[in-house]
Amino acid sequence: MSEQPDLQTLESELSAQVAAAAGMTELEDVRVSALGKKGVISERMKTLGKMDPEQRKAAGQALNQLKTTVAEAIAARQAELKEAELEARLATEFVDVTLPVRPETAGTIHPVSQVWEEVVQIFADLGFAVAEGPHIETDWYNFGALNIPDDHPARQEHDTFYLTPKEDGSRMVLRTHTSPVQIRTMQQGELPIRIIAPGRTFRSDSDLTHTPMFHQLEGLVLDETTHLGHLKWCLEEFCKAFFEVDEVKMRFRASHFPFTEPSMEVDIGCSWSDGQVKIGVGDDWMEILGSGMVHPNVIRAGGLDPDKVQGFAFGMGIDRLAMLKYGIPDLRAFFDSDLRWLRHYGFSALQMPNLAGGLS
Ligand code: DAH
Repeated sequence: MSEQPDLQTLESELSAQVAAAAGMTELEDVRVSALGKKGVISERMKTLGKMDPEQRKAAGQALNQLKTTVAEAIAARQAELKEAELEARLATEFVDVTLPVRPETAGTIHPVSQVWEEVVQIFADLGFAVAEGPHIETDWYNFGALNIPDDHPARQEHDTFYLTPKEDGSRMVLRTHTSPVQIRTMQQGELPIRIIAPGRTFRSDSDLTHTPMFHQLEGLVLDETTHLGHLKWCLEEFCKAFFEVDEVKMRFRASHFPFTEPSMEVDIGCSWSDGQVKIGVGDDWMEILGSGMVHPNVIRAGGLDPDKVQGFAFGMGIDRLAMLKYGIPDLRAFFDSDLRWLRHYGFSALQMPNLAGGLS
């Protein structure tokens, strides 16, 4: 048997090997060669049997001590290597989120989303908050509370989608307009109210200018002094900002809605040529929204006192606004998910509309 190094020397040899291991696999090799079944320490353990008891006790203790020391050194080196590995990964997989996106972004923002965002930006600037309501409404929120009684012709005009009647005979409806959000907002009881409610609406109707699902924007302003002049100013400011023109001609035509008194339909001046419409110039008129002073019955239904509170409301079609502003001829194409159409009419995801940078 060849002369074996004493334990001290063995310990420094093994420590040096552990320290020199440059990676996990190398370290594992060192571990096996030292502590494995056939490793140097295990081999030394086997020699204990031949020793006399006194010697065995001392040598056994020393070997166990060596085993622990080496195992600890391996564990420490392992932790070091893991840490270094992580550092290296973090350094190479570093993502600079401030870098510009590569030019070839796929996908575009749908014109409805774009216009929705534009409209929100404009009204936010005028001090309006965004309110929401459910798509599935009770008959009362959609009609009754808005001063549309059971036998009112507006109920038929709305081509309502009804859900299966409940046990008590009542039927929920897919909201036919965003006006129920007026009631829900009033019920919160906080004045003054200055909200817009953009959202989906549903009517059983489908042709070139109607789809069963479409988008509306409701507006409601209520306090103690708001009057028709405010309504006019507010809608004029909106139209100028939305169509990005300095002047816009507007015509307020007497009309009828059950939920407003007086009621007005609003037209804007435009010109038609070659099937294209231009806003802000010309002698033609185009209807863009309905509006009026909120009917006392509606204020009452919202839980407020019409002798103390007054204001105006308006409603317009978001899809229609998009068609007008961006010259999109067919409404149905909005919901066809045709990629060629989306690439043509869509907007860059990186240019969110805002008043400072420009809307479109
Ligand atoms: N809810 C009406 C509709 O869907 C639109 C509307 C008209 C809303 C006048 C209003 C309003 O708030 O004052 O046709």
